[in-house]
Amino acid sequence: SWTPGNIINDHIARVREQVGDGKVLLALSGGVDSSVVAALLHRAIGDQLTCVFVDNGLLRLGEADQVMATFARHMGVNVIRVDAENRFLKALAGVTDPEQKRKIIGNMFIDVFDDEAERLQNVDWLAQGTIYPDVIESAGAATGKAHVIKSHHNVGGLPDRMNLKLIEPLRELFKDEVRRIGIELGLPSNMVHRHPFPGPGLGVRILGEVRKEYADKLRKADAIFIEELWKNELYSQTSQAFAVYMPVKSVGVTGDGRRYEHVIALRAVETIDFMTARWARLPYDFLDHVSRRIINEIEGISRVVYDISGKPPATIEWE
Ligand code: XMP
Repeated sequence: SWTPGNIINDHIARVREQVGDGKVLLALSGGVDSSVVAALLHRAIGDQLTCVFVDNGLLRLGEADQVMATFARHMGVNVIRVDAENRFLKALAGVTDPEQKRKIIGNMFIDVFDDEAERLQNVDWLAQGTIYPDVIESAGAATGKAHVIKSHHNVGGLPDRMNLKLIEPLRELFKDEVRRIGIELGLPSNMVHRHPFPGPGLGVRILGEVRKEYADKLRKADAIFIEELWKNELYSQTSQAFAVYMPVKSVGVTGDGRRYEHVIALRAVETIDFMTARWARLPYDFLDHVSRRIINEIEGISRVVYDISGKPPATIEWE
């Protein structure tokens, strides 16, 4: 019968048989799928697993530290943290086109991951957090953004060059099954139930050119929004919620005078499959509170707006 415990034991046995005493490399993003793979493989093969976590400077507030705390400190997983913020921001300087930004971030990720992989000796396997819907998606006629959704995890080319074999322990599982396994493996509930986060991260949530100064402000705004959603028991009612940085100047007025500063947009949607989505009808008082906190607590933001566009015609992300 299907219980998370049975599935885990079954997968552990399979992984052990498959891998033997080989070494496994995993690109850990901190998202649900790669996190569950890390926890599962750690349970199955312990120190034979090495994870590489790339901080590209486009992650959410405190995200890199949280990932390191959970996996390296609490669980004792081998995790190599690569601080690559400067490399990513340098490559993105002056670039404004969304698809161009995606390409640059994806390629840089592969370069950075490659560098780490080459440093490690005798790696035999590359693990990936592919789940069943990804298998269907890439088999079918993916159009538009759908085919790039997993681009950040897809360290394409690497298995060939390094002669690595691919191991995908979640290939037969649906998202809710992956979550149940994650909980059973002892991952924190808020990590397992976290909204999806795109591979290009804040790179596509800062409209136009990505700058560190914008990323830092956006991280704060996003953290306030998410913190308040949790506090008000609205987080689980939304499928995805985040802040967007709009480097457009708008006039504001505060106690000490006139301001002429940038805008933060809030986006929250309800959806089953992310192909269509309805904007979340968050309570006005809640939005009012979040807006006040963002303007009061973050220097350089004079206005907050809420996105009331459905998908279609709009997409969930702004870029
Ligand atoms: P859109 O904006 O197309 O987003 O309505 C649908 C879902 O896909 C995510 N998304 C991405 N994920 N790389 C990713 O890994 C990307 O380039 C990308 N673009 C969009 C988005 O966050 C939403 O969950």
